[in-house]
Amino acid sequence: MANEVRFAIIGTGNIGPFHADAISKINGAKLVAVADIIEEKAKQLADKYNAEAYADYEKMLERDDIDVVNICTPSGLHMESALKAAENGKHLIVEKPLDITLEKCDRIIDACMESNLKLCVIFPKRFKLAVQKTKEAIEQGRFGKLVFVNGACNEFRSQEYYDSGKWRGTWALDGGGALMNQSIHTIDALYYLAGDVSSIYAYTATLARNIEVEDTAVAAFKLKNGALGMITGTTSVYPGYDPVISIHGDKGSVVINGEKIEKWDFEIQKEGDSAIRNIGKDNTSSSANDPIKQMSSEGHMHQIADMIEAIRTDRQPMVNGEEGRKAVEIIIGIYGSQKEKKEITLPI
Ligand SMILES: NC(=O)c1ccc[n+]([C@@H]2O[C@H](COP(=O)([O-])OP(=O)(O)OC[C@H]3O[C@@H](n4cnc5c(N)ncnc54)[C@H](O)[C@@H]3O)[C@@H](O)[C@H]2O)c1
Repeated sequence: MANEVRFAIIGTGNIGPFHADAISKINGAKLVAVADIIEEKAKQLADKYNAEAYADYEKMLERDDIDVVNICTPSGLHMESALKAAENGKHLIVEKPLDITLEKCDRIIDACMESNLKLCVIFPKRFKLAVQKTKEAIEQGRFGKLVFVNGACNEFRSQEYYDSGKWRGTWALDGGGALMNQSIHTIDALYYLAGDVSSIYAYTATLARNIEVEDTAVAAFKLKNGALGMITGTTSVYPGYDPVISIHGDKGSVVINGEKIEKWDFEIQKEGDSAIRNIGKDNTSSSANDPIKQMSSEGHMHQIADMIEAIRTDRQPMVNGEEGRKAVEIIIGIYGSQKEKKEITLPI
């Protein structure tokens, strides 16, 4: 590998440009190629970063000056290009969800493991300061016995949003609706903070959008550590609010609203608590009713920089394939519970 880590992007729709922007802001990273079946879109992004454009990603993958491939295609197509990239010896950064079935996730994980390649799944929420501070407090035992965790994702996506891409809101390519596409960020953050889920009971429904997948869901779950949890996720409520994560223990409670610490209360106070209570106070960005309008590439930068470090020091990326698979497993459990009208136990 050259001193510089060289990246290529597959898929230049909504999220691909955020990857390009993030790569361009990292010292030691360079975008060398981008591919999209719509060649004009690939060219537009490539020109902006002095990279080469391809309509056929397989052709692009033949290049031996690409170290990492960022996969930004519709969710149900991730495995297809991921396997090809792994075959060509490229490390992988894959947008959430890793893919839409556990079988496909496992094939990507296995392919990377067999070829000794790094695999990172994009979950930028984990790297937000509010989530990081909460994780630290959990690890320090400040919550005492974890009692209850909750993720409330009351978001808004219009019918036009679903109609804007043939893949959106379909089982075949989105793999689900409000949960698999939007609430997955919060579901992953809950797992990251509170640990493995052991069983799930859920209801899902399609209430306000003309789509085949759910636009609304509620799920109750038990965690392996004994705590109980709840996820509510919708894309059909006006005007849409930032997701709220609540973590409660017998010695403390934290509520994170979007990127803001709304509550930070512990039986035993610590120096630094007052500063933590100000986290996110001035933040105005939100994706509650628009997937990208106010999004920044900061979280992506964090994960791309982490991938570079993982390659250089030969360690696992912070969100590796196994970690990225967890949220998919929980969501598949929720869909299974609705379908079979019973409690689903994990692992599936
Ligand atoms: N991390 C985040 O916050 C975030 C935000 C938005 C989307 N995403 C994820 O990113 C992925 C893409 O979402 P999007 O909103 O950018 O979708 P999009 O439809 O806007 O873009 C997808 C692009 O992939 C291209 N494409 C499709 N098949 C291809 C192929 N075989 N080869 C090359 N290009 C191909 C399409 O032409 C399109 O330009 C999804 O998995 C989604 O869940 C993540």
